[in-house]
Amino acid sequence: MAESTNISSSSLTTKSPSRSWAGLLVLILSPVLVSLLVYRLDDFDSAPYPDSALSLDTIFVPKHHGHVLNVTEKLGNGILSGPEDIAYDSESRVIYTGCSDGWIKRLMVTQSVSEVTVENWVHVGGRPLGLAFGLDKELIVAEPDKGLLKVTKDGEITLLTDEAEGLRFKLTDGVDIDQSGLIYFTDASYKYSVHDHVLDIFEGRPYGRLMSFDPSTKQTQYLEYWSAYSLLIFAMGEGVECITSKARKVGSVDNFVDSLPGYPDNIRYDGEGKFWIGLTSGRATAGDFILKNPMMRKIIVILSRYFDVPITQKDGGVIAVNLNGEVIGLYTDPGLAGVTGGVKIEEHLYYASLAASYIGRVNVTHTDNV
Ligand SMILES: *[C@@H]1O[C@H](CO)[C@@H](O)[C@H](O)[C@H]1NC(C)=O
Ligand SMILES: *[C@@H]1O[C@H](CO)[C@@H](O)[C@H](O)[C@H]1NC(C)=O
Repeated sequence: MAESTNISSSSLTTKSPSRSWAGLLVLILSPVLVSLLVYRLDDFDSAPYPDSALSLDTIFVPKHHGHVLNVTEKLGNGILSGPEDIAYDSESRVIYTGCSDGWIKRLMVTQSVSEVTVENWVHVGGRPLGLAFGLDKELIVAEPDKGLLKVTKDGEITLLTDEAEGLRFKLTDGVDIDQSGLIYFTDASYKYSVHDHVLDIFEGRPYGRLMSFDPSTKQTQYLEYWSAYSLLIFAMGEGVECITSKARKVGSVDNFVDSLPGYPDNIRYDGEGKFWIGLTSGRATAGDFILKNPMMRKIIVILSRYFDVPITQKDGGVIAVNLNGEVIGLYTDPGLAGVTGGVKIEEHLYYASLAASYIGRVNVTHTDNV
């Protein structure tokens, strides 16, 4: 036994020391080299966001309800799969929402949540996102892949537009309509589909567009490329749409509100001086770090080709902002993620979420007195 040990140890020492060092070095370095090669060869090319787009400060929030699920009533619980946007018809008191199963569903606003019944109204297919009523109460629907659709009161579906400037839409997302009936809408990305929208955010290039569609001339007009941050397309894009139609700011796009305490999505005006902005998730240090760091974004995208990379979202909710862009209320919960937007109807805030199977309702009367 002792002999054999000796032999093996002597055979070790007979090897050239430089060769074994080289072997060790290759052993250690090869995963690094392979990783570098994979990194260099991968054509995913993430770009930096401008500093101004990623402020690390957060805006002053005077009133924060941080456990909004405690006081949430759930409408259509278990029946609405990932409601994304809400359009409210105040005449009939009916809420319309687009679900992940391709249905536009509708429900009547009632005093008691237990009386709410959900109706499968029209199946547009795909994954309907933004919704807004046109002048004749037709429902304009942004379906990411198909484009901008019109659904008449009788449920007849027509395609209004699916391309501008020779580029087909790939992620038709937000929609709003001004008093003249002109439709403003966004294609959040002409490169990535709705299933890959995270890649659009991770790449950080201006693939999003704000456009208008004139129902009388059937003209689609491109208004603005969202300079370098399509992240803000989901976010500011829709917001400016809303501001465009309400405050007529077309052509002078500026930051209406930034440094939000979460990542914004749909924005809706309530006709009473407040914008209600969905926050898909609260701001996390890790999320901010990743967004600020294009190399990190690329590494995560490459890793995600081989492994499940979890993206944790929490503290989603809705923030209310006045016409000057000052926060007047924030409603979040650690258990809320993928919150896409909120609409104020009478005393309540109704909010929708990609991760929920209901529309949430919260009494926000006190916000009015701020
Ligand atoms: C709200 O819910 C959280 C977590 O479930 C709990 O810790 C908290 O005490 C609740 N607050 C109220 C006011 O019920
Ligand atoms: C909403 O809350 C206010 C008080 O904060 C209350 O007066 C009102 O009745 C509530 N509305 C509903 C519909 O529960």
